[in-house]
Amino acid sequence: MTVPPLSTIGIIGGGQLGRMLAVAAAQLGYQCHIYAPDERSPAADVAQLWTRGDYDDAEAMERFAQSVDILTYEFENIPVEPVAALTAFRRVSPNPEALGIAQDRALEKAFVDKLGARTAPWATVDSLDDLKAAIARVGTPAILKTRRDGYDGKGQARLRSIEDAESAWTAIGERPAILEGFVNFEHEFSIIIARGADGRVVSWDPAENFHVNGILDTSTVPAHPSILAEADEALALAVRIAEALEYIGVLTLEFFAAEGGPVFNEMAPRVHNSGHWTIEGALTSQFENHVRAICGLPLGSTELVAGGAQMRNLIGDQANDWGAILADPRAHLHLYAKRFPRPGRKMGHVTIVG
Ligand SMILES: Nc1ncnc2c1ncn2[C@@H]1O[C@H](COP(=O)(O)OP(=O)(O)O)[C@@H](O)[C@H]1O
Ligand SMILES: [Mg+2]
Repeated sequence: MTVPPLSTIGIIGGGQLGRMLAVAAAQLGYQCHIYAPDERSPAADVAQLWTRGDYDDAEAMERFAQSVDILTYEFENIPVEPVAALTAFRRVSPNPEALGIAQDRALEKAFVDKLGARTAPWATVDSLDDLKAAIARVGTPAILKTRRDGYDGKGQARLRSIEDAESAWTAIGERPAILEGFVNFEHEFSIIIARGADGRVVSWDPAENFHVNGILDTSTVPAHPSILAEADEALALAVRIAEALEYIGVLTLEFFAAEGGPVFNEMAPRVHNSGHWTIEGALTSQFENHVRAICGLPLGSTELVAGGAQMRNLIGDQANDWGAILADPRAHLHLYAKRFPRPGRKMGHVTIVG
């Protein structure tokens, strides 16, 4: 089912991922219609059409769906039911089942465990008593993570010993959570694949990801040799997940490179921050291949263009350094045109190729 150029792609969510998707879609001759609750958004700024609406406003969502040819989403923490309801009107890619699994850490971990993934020991936690029982099973050090709505390290608390149980439970707002054993990893990496409507899968080089304060700081390709040694196994898992979900579009998996092999951390049913380097660093970007995949076009080559690339996020007022960044003539600066540079907020990124 091909959605040809000149058609309108509906994107749920208005952030920078939607912005870069809309730019890639425009290059291929598509229009984009953004649906987001914000007055203005980074994605709406570059799209032909946008609607301001809440994600649980079923009526507005239906009107939006009726106005487009195909639907996708760029934001993970949207309620699944209203999105699933839209499948009555238009194809939604990736399918809402993938969204439902990826936005709940317990469903996600159980799902990948069934597919043979290596995961840190984990247990669900719904109360302080559960947490104490989970600590007994999982051990310490450990990380308590809310099942839902966590991103950029938010909704997490670390525990050094059972003494930390109460403070950790309070710190995450006493919400349904999972406790995860702490993984002694050497490096973190991500695997990004695109799966087309015909089931064909392409993958980019694994990116080595470095986090500061729980937020991605840099993604570097090629990755450290210890990551490259584990990339095949990680990629095989990504493909199994995509096939199990009959997934169409770009899918991202985050891993820890540990001694015994790649440890699955989490997945995102969408384009990902650790793939921004592909805009200049690969023959086809994650954004373009996502558009191609959901529209039923052939996927583009994911080959590196200059042997490698490094992407650095601009967080908070780091984006004010745009002048100094551009002093390096090799720098590709991306600013998301967010008006309020809160500390910890992703304002842009810069990529250096080669
Ligand atoms: N089980 C773990 N062991 C060691 N470090 C972890 C573990 N879980 C998360 N981290 C660290 O915290 C970061 C953020 O956690 P993650 O689960 O990816 O949440 P988010 O949704 O905020 O990205 C990870 O990239 C990693 O650096
Ligand atoms: Mg993460």
